[in-house]
Amino acid sequence: MRAMFVRNLFLTLALSAAALSAPPLPRIVHQAEKFQLLVDGKPFLLLGAQVHNSNAWPSVLSASLPQVAALHANTVEIPVYWEDIEPRPGEFDFTNVDAVIKLVRENHLRMVLLWFGTWKNGQMDYAPSWVKSNNDKYPRMIDSGGKPVKVLSPLFPATRDADVKAFTTLLRHIRDIDEDTRTVIMVQVENEPGSLDTTRDYSPTANRLFDGPVPAAVLEATHKSGANWQRAFGPDADEFFAAWAVASYVEAVAKAGKQVYPLPFYVNVWLRERKNFMRPGDAYPSGGATNNVLDIWKALTPSLDAIAPDIYVPDYIGYQEVCKTYGRKDNPLMVPETGGSNAVARYMFYALGDYGALSFAPFGVDTPGIDELPIIKGLSANFKLFAPLVTVFPQWQAERPMKSMVEEEFLVDRLVEFDKWQVLSQFGSVGPGYGGLYATGTKERTGRALAVDLGNDEFIIMGFDARVTFRPRYSDKKTQYLRVEQGTFENGEWKVRRLLNGDQTFFALILPPDGTILKVKVATY
Ligand code: DGJ
Repeated sequence: MRAMFVRNLFLTLALSAAALSAPPLPRIVHQAEKFQLLVDGKPFLLLGAQVHNSNAWPSVLSASLPQVAALHANTVEIPVYWEDIEPRPGEFDFTNVDAVIKLVRENHLRMVLLWFGTWKNGQMDYAPSWVKSNNDKYPRMIDSGGKPVKVLSPLFPATRDADVKAFTTLLRHIRDIDEDTRTVIMVQVENEPGSLDTTRDYSPTANRLFDGPVPAAVLEATHKSGANWQRAFGPDADEFFAAWAVASYVEAVAKAGKQVYPLPFYVNVWLRERKNFMRPGDAYPSGGATNNVLDIWKALTPSLDAIAPDIYVPDYIGYQEVCKTYGRKDNPLMVPETGGSNAVARYMFYALGDYGALSFAPFGVDTPGIDELPIIKGLSANFKLFAPLVTVFPQWQAERPMKSMVEEEFLVDRLVEFDKWQVLSQFGSVGPGYGGLYATGTKERTGRALAVDLGNDEFIIMGFDARVTFRPRYSDKKTQYLRVEQGTFENGEWKVRRLLNGDQTFFALILPPDGTILKVKVATY
């Protein structure tokens, strides 16, 4: 008896010691209209990479995670499948989850857990077969023609409760096995929720709700009034109703999850921008947190730390529009998925430099040989450049003025302005023209740079394939470099590798094709 008591006491003491020494919970903080992700209590720039949907298996990841780490990513985004962890109702199996987390640790990465539960790409593919095959208990959405679609209805408590149970059981397990290392730093709740193939659920239950009053929170968020959905929203009523239903369901799942293990949570969005005729349920899942219903989502999902766009928009204007739409005062920009073209390496500079992105993660980087593709080479070079800045860069984002200078077609001389200084980035070679020197552009459009105003006439200039010059903003005086340091950061401290001068600064500051970071002190004379 006494031995048992001593053993229990010892165990309790050991457990509380572990809890005391556990690193602080990752979280997203909001101060002075800026956001920061904190990991281990320090600012953290999430350089991510998402694996393909069917690759969250130890047998696959053991080969591909070293490849992710070789891209200089610090975080890997990996799905957990509802069908895998709960093969029979109430029977949970975390064998794969445990093995995956172990592999992530062995590769010195952090992990964003993607909950593939009720929704996956506006459908229900990852629900367990016992959910898929029991339409009475877990009703599907019914389209306007009265036919069931391959999406679970968000309006039935039995489905929501089943998802909540699976999600909270998973998070409880993650908390128990990961609290002392915090390998898992963030959770995506569902995947691109909403419905393909129908704008909303047209079942009798749904229709009754649709004909009833609109919840006050929705009216307030949209500044509308009206006795029912149709009257309040007219032609948008079906989609807005869907947004309310999906957002409320996701909030219920997230809220329950937060009570168990309050990591940062977000939901990802299949965007509406640049999508064909932009018809809900056709070009994108209806009811997801698209730009037209973002206010409804923000009002209804206080348990989510962010609503995050999956950005596959190919053009630079559209890409920036998305960053602006989702990087709001009440929503931090995170990019949990991106890709589509080599231009993404340039677009990363807009996202981080101009829109304060906390994370940036290309999708599907775990294909053998992918590292040979230009898109991955560009991103990998970016990640290598940003890797030493993981704690420093978010502090600049929060505290210092910063601007991107990115090459685009016919945009080869990019001028940005700070309090006292103008900074010009030119891409390719330069030649004389009326009014000064003009650039020709690089061969593969690889120019991308950032300027950070550190104050006291000091700047960080970083990036690739650019030729950078300074002028004072409000004077005709000339510019002189007092000091140009090339270097990097180690443990948050700037380390000078060498001073640049002479030929290396005579005409301009040069950011080479493989990238560099410069710390520059400028003056006038
Ligand atoms: C977006 C989804 O969220 C991902 O899981 C994946 O299906 C990609 N689309 C594919 O492009």
